[in-house]
Order: sequence, then C-alpha cells, then structure tokens
Amino acid sequence: MQVCETKLDIFALQTGYRKNGLKIGLVPTMGFLHDGHMELVRQARAACDRVIVTIFVNPTQFGVNEDLSSYPRDLERDIAMLNAEGVDAVFTPSLQEMYVPGSETIIEATRLSRILIGRLRPGHFRGVTTIVAKLFNICQPDRAYFGEKDYQQLQVIKRMVRDLDIPVEICGVPTVRETDGLAMSSRNAMLGSKERQAAVILSQALIAAEEFCLTNRVSAQKLSQIIRDKIETEPLADIRSIDIRDAVTLAPIRGTLNAPAAALLAVGFGDVLLIDQKTLHAKLSVQQ
Ligand code: PAJ
Repeated sequence: MQVCETKLDIFALQTGYRKNGLKIGLVPTMGFLHDGHMELVRQARAACDRVIVTIFVNPTQFGVNEDLSSYPRDLERDIAMLNAEGVDAVFTPSLQEMYVPGSETIIEATRLSRILIGRLRPGHFRGVTTIVAKLFNICQPDRAYFGEKDYQQLQVIKRMVRDLDIPVEICGVPTVRETDGLAMSSRNAMLGSKERQAAVILSQALIAAEEFCLTNRVSAQKLSQIIRDKIETEPLADIRSIDIRDAVTLAPIRGTLNAPAAALLAVGFGDVLLIDQKTLHAKLSVQQ
C-alpha cells in the first residue's frame, strides 16, 4: 500500500492507474477509522480496480466553537487497518498541502447546505463540499463512497456532482451499527458509559417509526411524534431536532407520506451530539 503525503505523489499514482484503464474508487475520511468506514472501503474494493482512501481532518468544516483540536486521531492504526483491507493508496496531506496560502474559492450547495444540520452548524457543508471537490480533482475517481449515516452530507455531495457535472458516481452505503443498534461514529468514544447505554434509544426510535410505516398510511407529523415519544423515555437524551424530510431534496413533507422519506435525528447525550437517520418507505394505498 502506498502512503502519499503530497498532491503530486497521489496525482502521479492515479494518473498511472487511469493510463492502465483501471477504475478508481475513492473513500474520503477524517481518520480514526471504525467498521463504518471499513464498510465503504470493502464496497469500493468489490466494485473498483484500485481503492484510494484519504485521511484529512478538514478544518474548514469545523465551526469556531467545535471540536477540531480534540478530534480523535490515530494515523498509525488507520494505516494498518487500510493495509489489512487491501487498499492500494492512502492520501494523508498536511494542512498546508491542502490549503495553500491565499485560498479563497469555495463550493456550496446554497439551499441544501443551509437547512437542518446546516442551520445548527453554519458553514459546515460549505467546508465539506469544498474539500470533497478538491479531493475529486486530485484523485479523479470513477466512484466515490459516502455513508448514509451522514445523510445530509451524502445528498449535498450528490447535488454538487450533479450541478457541476463532476464525472464521479456517488455511492451511498447503509449505516453500519454496533450490535445494540447504535450507529458507529468516532464520537461514540467520547460518550460516558451511562450516555453510551442511553444512546441506543436513537435506533430504537427509528425502528419504531419504520414499523409504524409498514402497516399504516402516516403523516410526517405523526412519525415525528412517534420518534419523540420514544426518545423522551430516555432522560439522558436531549433532543435537538427530529425531521421527516423528502429523501432526495430534504424538503419538508406536508401531510401523508407518498414518496421515500428520511427521518433525521440530532440528539445530545452529555456534551456529545449524535446524529442518526433511517429512510422510510410510505405504505402504498391498496386499490379496491
Ligand atoms: P468521516 O466522519 O471520517 O466519515 C467518512 C465517511 O464514513 C463518511 O462518508 C461517513 O458517512 C462514513 N461513515 C461514518 N460512520 C459510518 C457508519 N456507521 N456507517 C457507514 N458509513 C459511515 O464525513 C466525513 O468524514 C467528512 O465530512 C469528509 C466527507 C471526509 C469530508 O471531510
């Protein structure tokens, strides 16, 4: 496995792959890898000839009061995990390598990036789209893999690629969970043991909503109430937002669900804000 620290090195490597007609799969990450990230790697490995993983804790997607300096890092362990999974190249640029002095150009999905989590974290998705566009230009992948766990991020990136005609196929990967249902996240390590136990309520609430959808025609408002009622049974859960949105545009849904919807949760446990999501399918009315 090649470890590249400079744009020049990874660019030369991918150019060589492309000259040989090899399909490149890209997995962008901020490191401190867990099995959720590794599932993206495995899917890239299965569908592409060469897999490039990037590890870069991107400062432009963190707000001024957010946890950039305390973001967990373990590059040595990450590299060992990727090597064991058969990754071809890892790109681990420094801050100076990615943002040359005087950088001022940004990419932003102007509506999608400002709703939902974009309201809680102003500027966050602008940082994500800008860094991901740069990584696409440097690595020139055929396919790029993103987790459904960060559902709004996945939709923002799909929109950017569509709007700017970037020739990359965006592949969404279902959320990988711990055995009790908690969505895997680097932030889970920051939970105290009581909060860690309490956090299982998120996936339980999403499953309750999914089960209700299977047997009932239901409004977005009703679904959000089912989720709220379930989460409120857990005293350590501090609900920040529960949204039932169109699965593609993330627009609010008025009345009964007719198309796939995404249930999006942001809930605090102690100092840690967790997100989770599930795609819900409307029960179709049966013609008599
Ligand atoms: P990071 O949080 O490291 O996540 C990297 C990728 O792993 C994202 O696409 C994320 O959705 C996916 N992922 C995380 N947990 C997952 C889980 N439990 N199941 C499936 N996939 C999971 O997201 C970022 O980094 C950054 O914003 C990035 C896109 C790299 C831009 O800086």
